[in-house]
Amino acid sequence: MLKKNLVKAFSEQVNAEYYSAYLYLVMSAYADRAGFKGAANWLFVQVQEETAHGTHMYRHILERGADPAFADIKTPPSNFRGIKDIFDKVLEHERLVTERINNLASLALRENDHASYNFIMWYVNEQTEEEAGVGDILAKIALADKNPGLLFTLDAELGNRTFVDPFPRTQAD
Ligand SMILES: [Fe+2]
Ligand SMILES: [Fe+2]
Repeated sequence: MLKKNLVKAFSEQVNAEYYSAYLYLVMSAYADRAGFKGAANWLFVQVQEETAHGTHMYRHILERGADPAFADIKTPPSNFRGIKDIFDKVLEHERLVTERINNLASLALRENDHASYNFIMWYVNEQTEEEAGVGDILAKIALADKNPGLLFTLDAELGNRTFVDPFPRTQAD
């Protein structure tokens, strides 16, 4: 059985993951309309990943015999100033998520809930990957400053990203 404060913290994180998905959906629309179809694709893969995270955490609450709590998902900002601004904000957002995940891990340890701690460790590693991946994209955007043609190469690269379900589940699960 999951302790009350962990049910609350995990439920809030489910909401935060769905907010992330919604934020990336807004960003994907912006990139699409700005002609960066590859970046729009990359961001849409983020939408699917964040949705998978939210659902995975929701299942953790249920599997531990508790009722998840639901709340409004706030409206993400939509006032972007180009593709660099988008990825700056992705990095900024992912850093905040990393902080939330670390807080969740600390809480699980404080409550001596090693199953939850083990569960959240996957996200600790995931956040390292997320921040590194976005950092790489921002480094390439910085290179395109002197050579704008590189932006098209980068966009094509971002267009190749495909969604791989991190938690595939069969009917029998
Ligand atoms: Fe996430
Ligand atoms: Fe993320």
